[in-house]
Amino acid sequence: MRHLMNPLDFTTDELEKLFDLAQDISENPAKYAHVCDGRILATCFYEPSTRTRLSFESAMTRLGGRVLGFSEASSSSAAKGESVSDTIRVISSYADICAMRHPKEGAPMVAATRSLIPVINAGDGGHQHPTQTLTDLMTIRTLNGSLGNFTIGLCGDLKFGRTVHSLIEALLRYDNIKFIFISPPELRIPDYITDQLNAKGAEYEEVIRLEDSIGDLDILYMTRVQRERFFNEEDYVRLKDFYILTNEKLQLAKEKMLILHPLPRVNEISVEVDDDPRAVYFKQAKYGVYVRMALIMTLLEL
Ligand code: CP
Repeated sequence: MRHLMNPLDFTTDELEKLFDLAQDISENPAKYAHVCDGRILATCFYEPSTRTRLSFESAMTRLGGRVLGFSEASSSSAAKGESVSDTIRVISSYADICAMRHPKEGAPMVAATRSLIPVINAGDGGHQHPTQTLTDLMTIRTLNGSLGNFTIGLCGDLKFGRTVHSLIEALLRYDNIKFIFISPPELRIPDYITDQLNAKGAEYEEVIRLEDSIGDLDILYMTRVQRERFFNEEDYVRLKDFYILTNEKLQLAKEKMLILHPLPRVNEISVEVDDDPRAVYFKQAKYGVYVRMALIMTLLEL
């Protein structure tokens, strides 16, 4: 039995197969409409979500399966003090596969050690968000044409943004990628990530102003400032509007630069940018359904 805790749990060859499957699902949905008949997905979300939870539910439903679960800790027996280990042991009798989001880093991993069914980490604290990374890689592969040979700028909250941490680790396995980290000093990329970049000899730089580097980018990955991870509201308010991508700033960018964002967006991308053909974040959210369909099939060995 396999779980997914980290994008690195899959080799790059396995990821290629997963993306090929996701692409085929997107082109031939009817072929896959019954592959999960009789199967059940549990979505155990101890933290808010729109895309991840609902795209998992959409994915399982489109595969012919069914879904059960909870969308907040307060409506589960976690509110009475139940551990994730006990919860997953019970849910192992109710479902065939589980997607779990938790505010505590490592909680889905703890669940996986006690689980009798595959567990997917749907985001754990500020740590990892592997299915978002699969979505991001699928988006880049499809719209950029390859998973290598580009310069990517990651902008915003690089300290608490788990999607950024997962994506960098995943991209480090591909060739000829230059990273530009754009953040205020307080939200710079954690040392454990730069240690990995240094160990792999990856080319990267850290800058503060988006305008100084936007012209060099093939991909711009915007992120919101993660209010829920701040220790005080004052710091959040000071930093939340540090970056706002506007049509004016986009005039400095390459004509074919892709703008990705894991969403939800707050203020960091002006709504006027949505009509720019370079803005692909809503397409990215759609790829998330196909990737999660492919992932469910892969982990259930269907
Ligand atoms: N991208 C993402 O994880 O969005 P949700 O928090 O809405 O699931």
